[in-house]
Amino acid sequence: MRKKISVIGAGKVGATTAQRLAERNYADVVLADVIEFVAEGEALDLLEAGPIVGYDVNVAGVTIKDGAGYEKIANSDIVVMTAGIARKPGMSRDDLILTNQKIVAGWGEQIAKHAPNAIVIVVTNPVDAMTQLMWHTTKFPKQRVIGQAGVLDSARFRTFVALEFGVSVENVDAYVLGAHGDQMVPLPRYTTVAGVPITELLPKEKLDALVKRTREGGAEIVNLLKAGSAFYAPSAAVAAMVDAIMLDKKQVLPCIALLEGEYGIKGVYAGVPVKLGTKGIEEILQWKLNAEEQAALERSANAVRELNKVMGI
Ligand code: 2OP
Repeated sequence: MRKKISVIGAGKVGATTAQRLAERNYADVVLADVIEFVAEGEALDLLEAGPIVGYDVNVAGVTIKDGAGYEKIANSDIVVMTAGIARKPGMSRDDLILTNQKIVAGWGEQIAKHAPNAIVIVVTNPVDAMTQLMWHTTKFPKQRVIGQAGVLDSARFRTFVALEFGVSVENVDAYVLGAHGDQMVPLPRYTTVAGVPITELLPKEKLDALVKRTREGGAEIVNLLKAGSAFYAPSAAVAAMVDAIMLDKKQVLPCIALLEGEYGIKGVYAGVPVKLGTKGIEEILQWKLNAEEQAALERSANAVRELNKVMGI
């Protein structure tokens, strides 16, 4: 039987994710939303693109109304959680917490009931805390509840470094750990251009400017769009994570994972390098961080702890 991926939320991130996944042609896709018939409309449009693009997986949409419709996600192999309100200019990701808490916790219960074996990828912001909430609500093993942030933040960092050096993005490898927000931890020491760390190639002020732009990458787009936030790069990041799981790639990607002593941090979700494969997070890689990087990662974890407190989990 074909694999099944459900995407919760048919906004721009959800719909674009559904498109990218349908085009992979490796799993049926279900798109769910509470706004009447939006998911059905997006899904039908995607289905009709199949003959042109060359995929023949099924793409179906469902409206969740009066507590019904959840059964459409039954037995999903992967669930991508994108539902929630997005930032407006001037808002931080943390400002979204109380509204999105209700949405994520509600979905967590339904995912646990209808798709008890799924791997859940959380995208809804503030994503570190929402991933923790999803884990808390579903009670799934930690390997199966993962947050997306680092792949996107690292892609932004790679983009800016490639622009700075005028080289292909393929020559740039970058890693961003920590929380998805002001507490983000870009790692210049582990960021390379054709294998050479950028710390050896750039003066400090240039480096700091690239790190700053990466840290504020989401806000830069929110400020340009005015209504809505980024979705092309976020959905590409999710699709890369889904690829790693579906194809059992054992790919090392920076993802939000539950730390239980790794990096000296316990009981909280934070962005770290993980090995992603068919079981979800198959390993958390423990890189040697210097004192400054370690302190930044701990600040990230503490920021997530604060949000967890606000949510009462
Ligand atoms: C971003 O960084 C919305 O958090 C998302 O673009």
